[in-house]
Order: sequence, then C-alpha cells, then structure tokens
Amino acid sequence: MAREAGREIGSNLSQSSFFEKDISPLRDFKGQDIISAEQFDKKSVEILFHEVEGMEELLRAKARKSDLSGSILATLFYEPSTRTRLSFEVAMLRLGGGVVSESSVVFSSVTAGERIEDTIKVVGGYADVIALRDKKQGIAKQAALIADVPIINAGDGVGQHPTQSLIDLYTIQKELGRLDHLTITLFGDLKHGRTIHSLSYLLSLFPHIDLHFIAPEVLKLPEGITQYLTEKLIPFSQNYKLDKKAFSSDVIYTTRVQTERIKERLGPYSGTDTSICAHLDGDYRLPTDFCDKSSALIMHPLPRINEIPPEIDKHPKAAYFRQAHNGVPVRMALIKLVLQGN
Ligand code: NCD
Repeated sequence: MAREAGREIGSNLSQSSFFEKDISPLRDFKGQDIISAEQFDKKSVEILFHEVEGMEELLRAKARKSDLSGSILATLFYEPSTRTRLSFEVAMLRLGGGVVSESSVVFSSVTAGERIEDTIKVVGGYADVIALRDKKQGIAKQAALIADVPIINAGDGVGQHPTQSLIDLYTIQKELGRLDHLTITLFGDLKHGRTIHSLSYLLSLFPHIDLHFIAPEVLKLPEGITQYLTEKLIPFSQNYKLDKKAFSSDVIYTTRVQTERIKERLGPYSGTDTSICAHLDGDYRLPTDFCDKSSALIMHPLPRINEIPPEIDKHPKAAYFRQAHNGVPVRMALIKLVLQGN
C-alpha cells in the first residue's frame, strides 16, 4: 500500500545482491503488501503457517468463512496463468469474499496504452486487495508504491513469486515434517525461474539447509543470489547435470525451461535459442526410473512440460499436484491476514 511500501520496500537496495537488504520482516500483516521473500523471516512464516492450518480445517469441513463477505479481490494477470490466478480466486471465494478478474492483457486498457499506475489506482478503488502478475520485474513493488490497497505479487517477470514459494515451503513442511536439516536440489531453468529465486531465500532462513543447484551454464542461478548465499554462509553447490547429490537429496524441485523468456531475450529466429532448447529438452528431465534410485520428494511449481515423465505421477513421492492444491489454503491465509490482520 502506498503509505507503507515506500518505507518497507525498496530502500537500501544493494547493488550486488539479488535480494534487498534491511526490509523489516512482517509481523502484523494487516494492510501490508506481499512483494518479495525478503519480507519473511522464520517468525512471519510461522504466523502464516498457523493461519494456513486453520484454513485447511475450514476446507476439510467444506465450510465457507463469511468473515470476508463484502471484501473483493482483483486479480490482474498480464502473463499467462492457470494455477496462480485460479487458486487466488478460489481462496477468496472460500473465504466468502468476491472476485473481479482481468486475465488477459488483450482485453485490458493496458493494450490501449494505459500506464499500469493508472490501472492500479482505478482498480484500487474497486477492490480491497490486488493480486498482480506482469512480465516486468519490479512491477509489483512499483504498483505497491502508488496503490491504496495491498498488492500481492503473483509473479513479476524473472523477479520473484513469493506466494508460490510460501506454498512450496508449506508443502515441504507438510510432506517431510520439518524445514531444517534438508538437502534440496533445485533443477532446471534457475535463471528465469522466479519461484526458485524466492524459494532460495526462504529456505536459507532455516538451519542446516544445503542447497544444490543444477542448471546448464546459460540458465544458471543469478549471481546476486549465489552472492547472497555466500554472504550468509548458507551451504550450496552447483552442477550442470543430475548427479549423486541430486539423487540423495531430501527434495528435488524441478522447473521447466522458460522458452518464452529465452525467445524474448534472443529473438524468435535465433539459432542459439533453438539449440539451447533442443539441448535442454534431452538433458533436463528426470529419468523414468528416478524413484527407484532416489527417495527424494519430487516437487514442481507447474506447468510441467517434459521435465518429469508422467510415469512418475503415481509415485507417493511425487508431490507436485498436492503442492498445487496447497495453493488454496496458503493464499486463503495470506488474503485473510492482509485484510484482517493476525
Ligand atoms: C510458475 C510461474 O509462473 O512462475 N508457475 C506458477 O506460478 N505455479 C513457474 C513457471 O511458469 O514455470
């Protein structure tokens, strides 16, 4: 929100690190924007997960909480989405609130050349909270500076995707019963994967975490993130192909190659683009017999293209559909906290 964001977010931006420094972690969530993973520490994660458990109960009982009747969520999604937008909307509906949605830039005034600032100002007068997705990194923060209602970042280009990473963290906690003493392999397009960026930060909050990053040279984790992990003395390693450490990890978090972003950067007819994609197609997928060789929990933010063969889906360790379903209670908890406080 305008009155908060200037103070909370964006000051003291470090030139060298991907993550901003000196952001005070969320305590009272009421009226706050959710822009980046740096707003969370162990305590704010704990506050959120406590609320999520209540939401799980509500969902199990198929009850609808009427607390938020009269409140409206606007979802402004200027990049494709299925899970994120729908789970935000279902979350608000399950809380008893209402939803208005703009799900395509094609039908938006943005296409007519409207500045995002104007859109946000206007929609802020219609709704009580806005979930925003756009291809421009930093846009959620920009929107938060001028909005009169809380902004939730639902993915800003190759920047961050904090709500997905909170879902990922919640999934690990639910599936493995802990968030410490874990070796976690993050595998695929680590350069463009905004869920990876936010998740690396959140995981680094917990003790005895060992992060293992596997990506081709051209799609390696942004240097600012490895620099941050180094500064914080978080153990991590990097490789370009699946290795022993990946197979012996507690979690393997797979992501797709974000071809659309590579194309955008290199141009649609670039030979490099075609060769990168062809190369990745073969090398960056789990083998069909992965579960015979590893007991790792398999996660993926989805959409999956061919990183995980469908044969793996039925295995108890394949957690990606459960992970997607956790999106509803986690987003319910976030919306409730932002609108009503802890
Ligand atoms: C991801 C995203 O949009 O960043 N998906 C998601 O939100 N569940 C991952 C992706 O697009 O590959």
